[in-house]
Amino acid sequence: MATALIILAAGQGTRMRSALPKVLHRVGGQPLLCHALDGAAPLDPERTVVVAGVGAEAVEAAARAHSPEAVTLRQDEQLGTAHAVLQARPALEGFEGDALVLYGDTPFIRPETLERMIAARRAGHAVVVLGFEAARPGRYGRLVMAGETLSRIVEAKDATDEELSISLCNSGVVCADAATLMELAAAVGNDNASGEYYLTDIVALANARGLGCTAITCPEAETMGVNTRADLAGAEAVFQARARATAMAAGVTLTAPETVFLSHDTAISADTVIGPNVVIGPGVTIGEAAEIRAFCHLEGCRIGPGAQIGPFARLRPGAELAEGVHVGNFVEVKNTTLGPGAKANHLTYLGDASIGAGTNIGAGTITCNYDGVMKYRTEIGRDAFIGSDTMLVAPVRVGDRAMTATGAVITEDVPDEALAVARARQENKPGLAVRLMERLRAAKARDKG
Ligand code: UD1
Ligand code: MG
Repeated sequence: MATALIILAAGQGTRMRSALPKVLHRVGGQPLLCHALDGAAPLDPERTVVVAGVGAEAVEAAARAHSPEAVTLRQDEQLGTAHAVLQARPALEGFEGDALVLYGDTPFIRPETLERMIAARRAGHAVVVLGFEAARPGRYGRLVMAGETLSRIVEAKDATDEELSISLCNSGVVCADAATLMELAAAVGNDNASGEYYLTDIVALANARGLGCTAITCPEAETMGVNTRADLAGAEAVFQARARATAMAAGVTLTAPETVFLSHDTAISADTVIGPNVVIGPGVTIGEAAEIRAFCHLEGCRIGPGAQIGPFARLRPGAELAEGVHVGNFVEVKNTTLGPGAKANHLTYLGDASIGAGTNIGAGTITCNYDGVMKYRTEIGRDAFIGSDTMLVAPVRVGDRAMTATGAVITEDVPDEALAVARARQENKPGLAVRLMERLRAAKARDKG
């Protein structure tokens, strides 16, 4: 049977105190909303509907960039979760199957949990709610159970003291037949403490119609929602703990795991060693048996097997390092390819360049790629040797097996196998150092006297 997703993402997120809609705040380098979409992707939903409201344009753009098949609809006034679900109705026209309601600010619900909900639905329960045992039930809605049956959900604001003592709480995730869900949501009223249309009221409505409701549970860590900056930091910590554990389980050594930061799409192959204090932003792939030493910052780059990076290296978007490349301390690489075995070990900037296999880039080399307006490319062939402190003024090409002398300012192409010397010639003046010092000291003594 087909599944449709309805992701509620219209809320204000007042407590974030942010100009950015809450669901666009990032964890592991991607918006919360995209984590919610990722969690449900393994269910292979036939339709995905995102309900946007506050900051709708930005939310819609993020949803489409992540899931081009997603339909976005607007809830212009945030009248409550049932009202938000109803806004998805036009996108479910002609759809037959189950609908799963998720929240855009709840990033960690695992696909296995959603699959268990769908299984419970298909076992004959009309409405299946995801609950959890809350350590601090606080503001969460409470699940009122009668045996296996979920009788109703009561919001904390509307609950009696007895109901408030229930620790089984509502995660907000609901699964029901799509048409039934819409009928029930349309029947919800707003006669409650908040004057909102509560989606949670569909449970009592379903029971009144003789439709069976039940709850399944998952660990509280999965249902964690983000409402404040402190929650966001907590969610980041949960994400990082999971990502580090996944990397280590896949055969990656993290010397000091709690100091390594990964992204939602980080891919690291087995036997790679990551030292302490390494930050890996989005879009990074690292091959087998590579070594990333302490204090590196990587984003949007590909690192080949056996490469050695750092300590203190910065790889920026478009850095493509082939097998066995060495990039050492205080080296920045952007939009540049380094061929197999190429080395740039110290104090270097490589931007908009291609470096051939086996080429050695000396300390202090800079590709001067930007004239203040335009960017230009530097091309260096294979097995070349770039002398220390070479300035490569792009656009420029250095050939295969060519060399540049230390301190060269290269403004013209260097042919294959040529040595380019491009610096002032040295002149030695015999005895001048001593005579000059005497003159300077005498001048200083005169000034004081
Ligand atoms: C909701 C549940 C509560 C549950 C809690 C779990 C209801 C009535 N209550 O409460 O039982 O324990 O989540 O976190 O459902 N949204 C819209 N439009 C609206 C209102 C909300 O899109 O008009 C979206 C929000 O952006 C958010 C989600 O729905 O993603 C939940 O809304 P929120 O206001 O946070 O509900 P809670 O009060 O936390
Ligand atoms: Mg909430």
